[in-house]
Amino acid sequence: MPQPKSSSHIRFAAVGDLHVQSDSAGELRELFAHAADKADALLLCGDLTDYGTAEEAGILARELSAVSIPVVAVLGNHDFEAGTPELVTAALAHAGVRVLDGSICEIEGVGIAGVKGFGGGFGRGSLGAWGEPAIKLFVQEALNEAMKLESALAKLRTRRRIALLHYAPVVGTVQGEPAEIFPFLGSSRLEEPLLRYPMDAVFHGHAHRGTFEARTINDVPVYNVARPLLQRTRPDTPPFFLYELPRAPVEEQAPAAA
Ligand SMILES: [Fe+2]
Ligand SMILES: [Fe+2]
Repeated sequence: MPQPKSSSHIRFAAVGDLHVQSDSAGELRELFAHAADKADALLLCGDLTDYGTAEEAGILARELSAVSIPVVAVLGNHDFEAGTPELVTAALAHAGVRVLDGSICEIEGVGIAGVKGFGGGFGRGSLGAWGEPAIKLFVQEALNEAMKLESALAKLRTRRRIALLHYAPVVGTVQGEPAEIFPFLGSSRLEEPLLRYPMDAVFHGHAHRGTFEARTINDVPVYNVARPLLQRTRPDTPPFFLYELPRAPVEEQAPAAA
């Protein structure tokens, strides 16, 4: 069991868009070692692999199996490209990673709800379920992901809550990308469940050229932790965002498993 990094706070290292390729072995070791040194848990916000192949997933799983802190992840669109996201999930789960897909986990009293999410656009620019069946299917996918997030959030019983996504739930963190592709970077439909529950923070990736921080309309911080964005905006620090929350009193934390 790793030692807490701080007695008063729990620290999360968050990063997305690792895009592991077949020749990436060894490249992430330093990043993960830094994260394990600074944080109590590692949060991975999708696009963990570049093409979603079993080979890429195996390389990432081997790197992650040496990480001494809990790792929680959601998949991204790239993890679906090969058509076998279940192989990516299985490889990561085998390495001890908790892969969330409309599900939850709890780390030292902090509840985490995770879902990949989907696109569709933001605010008045959101695509509506109208017209051709293909459009309705596209919109339905975003609604399904929002529903999965909602039901995951409803299960959390912790006072502290964070959400892990791949797609952006607010337009603020995709600013910087070409406006033409905003609808493919996220959806306001993902923001709706986040407004119904008390949240501490939301993390996502996907918008590599977006903006690091924005807020939901009820003022919850949303962090875009796509690795290319972190590398570009903080070139002198390891590419993860270190986020901390005050530790919950012991009586609020779930008892350790026997
Ligand atoms: Fe990505
Ligand atoms: Fe992505």
